Amino acid sequence: MATGKVGWGVIGACGIARRRTIPEGIVAAPNAELVAVTDVNAEGSRAVAAEFKAAHCATAAAVLRHPGVQAVYIATPNNLHRKYVMAAARAGKHVLCEKPLAIRTSDIVRMIGACRDAKVLFGVGFMMRFNAYHQKLREMIADGTLGTPVLARGQMTCWYPPMANAWRQVPELGGGGSLVDMGSHVVDVFEMFFGRTRSVFCRTANRVQNYAVEETAILALEFESGVPAVVDVSFGIPDEASEFVLEVYGSKGAVKGKYSLAQGPGGEMRACILGGMKGYDAQQNNQAKAGYQPWELPTKNTYLSEVEAFSQAILDGRPAPVPAEDGLWNHAVMEAAYKSARTGRAVTPKLK
Ligand SMILES: NC(=O)c1ccc[n+]([C@@H]2O[C@H](COP(=O)([O-])OP(=O)(O)OC[C@H]3O[C@@H](n4cnc5c(N)ncnc54)[C@H](O)[C@@H]3O)[C@@H](O)[C@H]2O)c1
Repeated sequence: MATGKVGWGVIGACGIARRRTIPEGIVAAPNAELVAVTDVNAEGSRAVAAEFKAAHCATAAAVLRHPGVQAVYIATPNNLHRKYVMAAARAGKHVLCEKPLAIRTSDIVRMIGACRDAKVLFGVGFMMRFNAYHQKLREMIADGTLGTPVLARGQMTCWYPPMANAWRQVPELGGGGSLVDMGSHVVDVFEMFFGRTRSVFCRTANRVQNYAVEETAILALEFESGVPAVVDVSFGIPDEASEFVLEVYGSKGAVKGKYSLAQGPGGEMRACILGGMKGYDAQQNNQAKAGYQPWELPTKNTYLSEVEAFSQAILDGRPAPVPAEDGLWNHAVMEAAYKSARTGRAVTPKLK
C-alpha cells in the first residue's frame, strides 16, 4: 500500500462539501489534503478556504489548474456535474462526483468515456456503502447467516418545503425529486446486498409539497438474485418523524434498523438470527417468540471512508472503489423507475 497524501480540490464547496465531506472526509483522512476550493458563493468559499487552510479560487478552472490538486470533489447542483467532470478529465485530475452523476444516463456514458481516455479515476459519492452495518449485512447475506434472503425494505424521508433557489425542486436542475435524491442511495445499498435491479415498479405522488418534482415515491424492486424489496422516499414527512428504516429478512432471521440510510456514521440496529432453519409453527405466536437483540458494531464516518478509499486507490494505481459505472447503472434504474411511474408498468432497467 503506497503512502502519501492526495491533494484535493473542491468545486461547490459550500453545501454538503462544507457540512460533511471537507471536515469529516478530506481534512480528516490521513492520505488526503485539502488544497483549493471554489463556489459561486465566493464569500462562502473564502470562509471555507480560511477555516480549513486551503486556497480560495475564483473559478473551477483555477482549481483544476492548481498544481497541488490531483483529485477534485464535485458537489454542485446535479445539472452542473457533467460540465465539471468533463473539465476535470481535460485537466487530467481524478474526480469524485456526487450522485446523481448527471441528469441523463447518456451524459454519464460520455463522462465515463472522457475520464477513461484521460486515464483518471472517476468515482460516485455513494458513501452509504461504507456504513459498518451495511458492510456487515452484505457479508451476512453472502455467507448465509440470514439464510435465504426473502425481502427487504428501505426508507429515507425528510421535510423539504418549496423554497426560492431550491435547485432540487426544479426538474432540469435536479433531474427528479426525492427518488433521485434519496432513493438512489437506498437502491445502491440494496444492489450491494442483492445484485443488480432486474425490474422496478414505481408510483410517485405530491401530497403536501407543491413543486414540479416528485415529493414521494414508492418502488417495488426485484434484484437479479430474485429478492424483492420495497423502497419508499419522501420530502413531505417531518424530520422528527423520519427514521430512515432498513429491514432485511431471510429464512434464518432478520435485521431491522434505523438511521443507517443517512449521513451519520452508524445507526440503531436489532438482529434476530436463528441457529438454523426452524420448522413451521402453526400457532404463529410470533410475539412470544420474538428474538430481536440489540446489534452494535464499531462505526466509522462514511465520508472519511469514502475519501480515504478514493485517495488510496489513486496512490496505489487501483480503480475507483465506488466506480462511476455503478453511478451510471444506478441512474439507469432511476430512469426505469420514472418510466414505470409514467406508464404504470414494471420496467427492466437497461444501459442504452
Ligand atoms: N452523498 C451525500 O451524502 C449527499 C448529501 C447531500 C447532497 N449530495 C449531493 O451533493 C450535491 C450538492 O448538494 P448540496 O446539498 O450540497 O447542495 P447545495 O445547494 O447545498 O450546495 C451546492 C453548492 O454548489 C454551489 N454552486 C452552484 N453553482 C455552482 C457553480 N457553477 N460552480 C461552483 N459552485 C456552484 C452552490 O453555491 C452551493 O454552495 C448534489 O449532487 C447532491 O445530490 C450528496
